[in-house]
Amino acid sequence: MAHCCLENTCLVLSHIIHWILAIVCFPLTLPLIIWVKVTTGKFESKKDLSGKTAIVTGANSGIGYDTALDFARRNAHVILAGRSLERSEAAADTIRSLTNNSGVVAWQMDVSIMSSVRAFVERFNQEEDRLDILVNNAGIGSGSADNTRTEEGLEKVMATNHFGHFLLTNLLLDKLKKSAPSRVVNVSSMAHERAVLDIENVNSEKKFDGMKIYGISKLCNVLFTHELARRTKDSGVTAYSLHPGVVRTSIFNTAPCAIQQCIKSTFCWFKSSEQGAATSIYCALADDIEPLSGSYFSDCKLRAESAAGKNEELAKKLWTASEDITTLKNV
Ligand SMILES: NC(=O)c1ccc[n+]([C@@H]2O[C@H](COP(=O)([O-])OP(=O)(O)OC[C@H]3O[C@@H](n4cnc5c(N)ncnc54)[C@H](OP(=O)(O)O)[C@@H]3O)[C@@H](O)[C@H]2O)c1
Repeated sequence: MAHCCLENTCLVLSHIIHWILAIVCFPLTLPLIIWVKVTTGKFESKKDLSGKTAIVTGANSGIGYDTALDFARRNAHVILAGRSLERSEAAADTIRSLTNNSGVVAWQMDVSIMSSVRAFVERFNQEEDRLDILVNNAGIGSGSADNTRTEEGLEKVMATNHFGHFLLTNLLLDKLKKSAPSRVVNVSSMAHERAVLDIENVNSEKKFDGMKIYGISKLCNVLFTHELARRTKDSGVTAYSLHPGVVRTSIFNTAPCAIQQCIKSTFCWFKSSEQGAATSIYCALADDIEPLSGSYFSDCKLRAESAAGKNEELAKKLWTASEDITTLKNV
C-alpha cells in the first residue's frame, strides 16, 4: 500500500517536472530546434540494390530500422542483426510487409559479446556469398555510471559501441573485399567531439567515467573508420563514420531520469528516425564519396571531426588495443 502511494507520488512528480522542464527548456532549445530543422540533410537517390547484401546491426528500432527499411525498398537482401531475435524478427516482418521484399531476414547477434559476433560471422560465411554494405549502427547510451561488464569482462558501452563492431568488421573483411566495391558505415555521434581517449585505459580498467564513456566509444568509431580506410586503401572497400543528428529514439531511455525528462520534453522537435537514417544511407550509397573513405559526415555532408578523431597515431594504437581486447588475432 505504502509502496503504491510512493509510486503514484513519483508519477505525479515526474509529470510536474516534465511540464516545468518543457516550459523552461522550450525557449532555451529554440535555436537548436531551428538549427536541426534547417540543416537536416536529405539523400534522394533511386539507386537499386538488387543482388546486393547488407547487414545492419541494431535494426529492430530507431535509425537502424529505417536504414534497413530503405535498403529493403531498394530490393537488397538485408540482414537485421540484433541481440533479441524476437524483436528483430518483428522488425523484419514489418519491413517485409511494407516492401514485399522476402530477402529481409533477422539474425541473432549480441554485438557486445565477442563469441556471439564470431558465431554470427561463422553463419554468415557459411550461408552468404557476398557482403556489399555493413552498417555498424547498434549502440547504447551511458545509462548508468556503474562500470557494467559483459560476461567476457569488457566494459559494456565500449563492447557494444566499439569492440563488437571492430571485431565484426574485421571478421567480415575478406567477404567485403571479395564483393568490392563495398562499404562500411560506422554510426558515431557528435558526442565524440569533446571526448578524450586514454589509450592505456581503453577497457576502463584503470578508471571508469560513466558520464564520458559514450563520447569515448563514439570517438573510437571515428578513429576506427580512419584506420580501416587506411588499411583497406585500394582494396575497393571504403569506410565512413557519421553523426545522424539528434534523433528521437529509445537510446535516451537509459539516461538519468532528470536528463531523460529534459530531453523528452523537446522530443517532438528532434529528427525522426527516418531523417536520422539519411546520412547512414548516404554513406552507404552516394556515388561520389569513395575518394573520401575514412571521413566523417553529418546531414549528408562531409564534416570535420574533432582533432582527436583525426589523430592517426591514436587510431593505430586503438586498432592494436582493440585487436588485443577482442582477441581478434588469437582465435
Ligand atoms: N538518437 C540520437 O540522437 C543519436 C545521436 C547520435 C548517435 N546515435 C547513434 O545512432 C545509433 C542508433 O541508435 P538509435 O538512436 O537508433 O537508438 P535505438 O533506437 O535505441 O537503437 C539502438 C539499436 O541498437 C541495438 N542494440 C543495443 N545493444 C545491442 C547489442 N548488444 N547487440 C545488438 N544490438 C544492440 C538495439 O536493440 P535492442 O532493442 O535490443 O535494445 C537497437 O536496435 C547508435 O549507435 C547511437 O549511438 C544516435
